[in-house]
Amino acid sequence: MTVIAVIGTGYVGLVSGSCLADFGNFVTCVDNDAEKIASLERGVIPIYEPGLEAVVERNVRAGRLFFTTGFAEAVKKSNVVFIAVGTPPADDGGADLRYVEDAARGIGRAMENYTVIVDKSTVPVGTARKVRRWVEEELALRSVSVLFDVVSNPEFLREGTAVYDFTHPDRVVIGSESEKARGLMKEVYRSLYLNETPYIETNLESAEMIKYASNAFLALKITFINEVANLCEKIGADVQDVAKAMGRDGRIGGKFLHPGPGYGGSCFPKDTRAMATTGRAYGSPVTLVEAAIAANKRQKRLMVEKIEAGLGGSLEGKIIAVLGLAFKQNTDDMRESPAIDICRGLIERGAHLRVSDPASFTEAGWRFADIAERLFYAEDEYQALEGSHALVILTPWNQYRNLDLAKVRSLLALPLFFDLRNIYNRADVENAGFTYFGVGK
Ligand SMILES: NC(=O)c1ccc[n+]([C@@H]2O[C@H](COP(=O)([O-])OP(=O)(O)OC[C@H]3O[C@@H](n4cnc5c(N)ncnc54)[C@H](O)[C@@H]3O)[C@@H](O)[C@H]2O)c1
Repeated sequence: MTVIAVIGTGYVGLVSGSCLADFGNFVTCVDNDAEKIASLERGVIPIYEPGLEAVVERNVRAGRLFFTTGFAEAVKKSNVVFIAVGTPPADDGGADLRYVEDAARGIGRAMENYTVIVDKSTVPVGTARKVRRWVEEELALRSVSVLFDVVSNPEFLREGTAVYDFTHPDRVVIGSESEKARGLMKEVYRSLYLNETPYIETNLESAEMIKYASNAFLALKITFINEVANLCEKIGADVQDVAKAMGRDGRIGGKFLHPGPGYGGSCFPKDTRAMATTGRAYGSPVTLVEAAIAANKRQKRLMVEKIEAGLGGSLEGKIIAVLGLAFKQNTDDMRESPAIDICRGLIERGAHLRVSDPASFTEAGWRFADIAERLFYAEDEYQALEGSHALVILTPWNQYRNLDLAKVRSLLALPLFFDLRNIYNRADVENAGFTYFGVGK
């Protein structure tokens, strides 16, 4: 039987841990944030992630899922230990591995029997070997010899659909140099393996690279369609028709061809930067990724300029209703959300904002503490609109997709409708008396 510890109980660790328990494994989720663990022990999920609460509840009740701050105890009793801590951006653009190192050293200080240590965090190529070294150093300090293997098992779940993604992945990637570890990982993922989920076994470096190459490619695809959209605006084309026709080509595919205010989130921005940093470090620059990073930055600025131009060239004294702060719908996560740069850009140019978001206000509170006097946190989207000079949709939450346009018109001081996620039909909005601004149409 596999007994698992998951170090780090954030978006990835909590979802992975509870879904692995759902697969029949015994799982202890560990975090050094005592408040987070206390909350989970009370049955309160600390993040907004649809469907997660039910999985957690079911597995806690079944006696297969536990939460603790007791790192060493959890490691000692487990034969597979996942590292799912954060890898935030470092100052040089690479990944900051301090939490991974802490976790690895902690494992080395605690483990007593053969253990498979699994890098689930997104980490640069070469990290699995560093993890091995950190653990070996700790074992040497203890003057003990305990056998262990390191596996790279990158995670591809998307916030907002994380439970579905974890339980129905497009592929499971296992990077390993050990037959024994590969066998144990098959046990861990038994229910997916038996289900014929594509299961890719490779070496450590390839597994680490697969994650970065995948995220960078998706970021490139978004950036590409954003630039096509900007060009469409200039030439009188409609990017949605262009994208629809492009996507019909099986070699291209229709997903991630939706133009918008730029990609954001906890992964694409930092992972593209980390990949570019790795490329430069190895003298093999990934120039397309470098270009996407620059274009994405520009895209957010262009959105601010679009709003400013639509408001007659000045934002001084203007009030703008911003619908959506999270980097995408169905999550409270604002990490590198385009809303951050766009809200700040609007405020820098003189605007006041009335913001709405169904899940992100706690995070927005500390992120925007320095500009709090220029922000009003509205109870809902309609309150945000009251007396505003323009409506700007930044996150395509469902509740923003079907606004009562007559009501919107009556609440807004000016009929300016900036649909930066292209979730409205121009004719519908114009027929309701607005001037419509989309992206690339
Ligand atoms: N969020 C996503 O959608 C996603 C998807 C795929 C991969 N990833 C990757 O997964 C990793 C984790 O991301 P996340 O979004 O879950 O981060 P997160 O910040 O939500 O969670 C990390 C957790 O680790 C805990 N932690 C840090 N050091 C610890 C230690 N020494 N002991 C115990 N707990 C510790 C923190 O308290 C925090 O709760 C990152 O590398 C990320 O790039 C994230």
